[in-house]
Formats: sequence, structure tokens, C-alpha cells
Amino acid sequence: RICFSGLLGLLLVLNAEARVGDSSQLEFCNETEQCLLFDLICKNSVYEVRHYDSVKWVTTNYTTFSMEFMMVPAFWKLYKYITGENEASQNIPMTAPVLMGIPEKSILRMDVFTMSFLLPAEYQMDPPKPTNDDVYIQETPAMNVYVIDYDSYMNTLSDSKYSKKLSKALDSAKVQYRKGSHFAAGYDSPKPKKKRHCEVWYVVEGDPVCDPVLQPFA
Ligand SMILES: *[C@@H]1O[C@H](CO)[C@@H](O)[C@H](O)[C@H]1NC(C)=O
Ligand SMILES: *[C@@H]1O[C@H](CO)[C@@H](O)[C@H](O)[C@H]1NC(C)=O
Repeated sequence: RICFSGLLGLLLVLNAEARVGDSSQLEFCNETEQCLLFDLICKNSVYEVRHYDSVKWVTTNYTTFSMEFMMVPAFWKLYKYITGENEASQNIPMTAPVLMGIPEKSILRMDVFTMSFLLPAEYQMDPPKPTNDDVYIQETPAMNVYVIDYDSYMNTLSDSKYSKKLSKALDSAKVQYRKGSHFAAGYDSPKPKKKRHCEVWYVVEGDPVCDPVLQPFA
């Protein structure tokens, strides 16, 4: 087992406040000025483990069948919040990633999806209240996540392909993680670009594991 607990402890002390910062620190996050930063704990050939500090988002819930039905309406609700639908009538800069909470369910069942915009550093302490009741401020706790990334457009097909690849790798390594839902993180605007970057995150339970995954994954 690769274990960096001493190093991780040090990183946690150095980064006690929410880490939203300059996007130049992340090569795959270059469409916004600020991005969500993290500490890399370990990685293997399939996934990496990251530590994220507790951080605030503006979020909306949407009950539906699949992400295709909620991406546009949820995006617009959050976009309106950052362009003035808040009690301070503030214009708030866009950040990355846009994070979605994806329930893992049968395609025929409706369930709650979430979409969140990360609040920029200057709004982390005291974000203006949303004026739309469907939109709320959410604080995610400090957490470790298993991450796999891919470079195509995000949709149900790509998201479930890579969430399955990641969960298969975690299951075969007998790793503990929160099941039943995952996060989908998008870093790109919809406009065409050479190299897109999307991610699937599972929340780590217990100690993060980065043993080499021995089975080949197609
Ligand atoms: C962002 O980074 C990608 C590679 O990661 C590069 O192809 C693209 O040109 C960059 N875009 C900008 C606006 O710098
Ligand atoms: C939004 O959905 C999440 C995840 O299902 C749930 O935990 C939360 O209570 C919901 N919040 C609101 C305001 O509907």
C-alpha cells in the first residue's frame, strides 16, 4: 500500500482554508480564472486519489431520468444566480469545475440529480443568498475522492462508461467507497476544443488505496 499519511498531514495543515485558486495551477482547467484546487494523495494506472478541502457551491436539484434532461435547465438556474439573481445583485465570475451529483439507478426510474457551480475565493466566506428558491448554497465537507478522467463530451453514455470502469477497478481492489451515486466534474464550456476534460469521482471511505490494479481493464 502506498501511504503518504505524514505528507498528507502536512498538506492539511498548510491548506486549512478552502482551496479555490488560480487556474494556472491546473493544466486541464484553463477556461476560467479560478478553479477548485486539491492535493494529490496517490495514483495508479487507473485512477488517482485527491484530497479536497471543505468548499462552498451554489447548487440546484433536479428530479429526472438522466443528466441530458437536467443539464440545460439546471445550468441556466445557476447561471442566473451568478449573473445577479442573488440578494446582493452581484455578478459572480464563473469557475470550474461544474459538478454534478449523479444517482446510480435504472434508466427507467426518476431520481434527484444535482448541479453545482463553485463559488470563487472572494465569495467563499459569505456568499450572497439566492433569490430563486430552487437554488441553494451548499458546503461540501473535506473529502478524499477516487478520480478517473476522460476527454470526450460529458453525457450519460460517457459518464456511465467511466464510472463503471472506476467502480470495477475499486471493487476488484476491494476498496471502500460511497456507492449509489458519484460526482461528474466538467471543466469545459460546450464550444468545441481540442482536448476536453471530464472526470468521475467516488467519495473515499476509510483509508485511500492506490495499490497497483493488477487486472487489465479494457
Ligand atoms: C487549455 O489547455 C489545453 C490542453 O490541456 C489546450 O489544448 C488549450 O489550448 C488550452 N486553452 C487555453 C484557452 O489556453
Ligand atoms: C437536493 O438533493 C440532495 C441529494 O439527493 C439532497 O440530499 C438534498 O436534501 C436536496 N436538497 C434540496 C434543497 O432539495
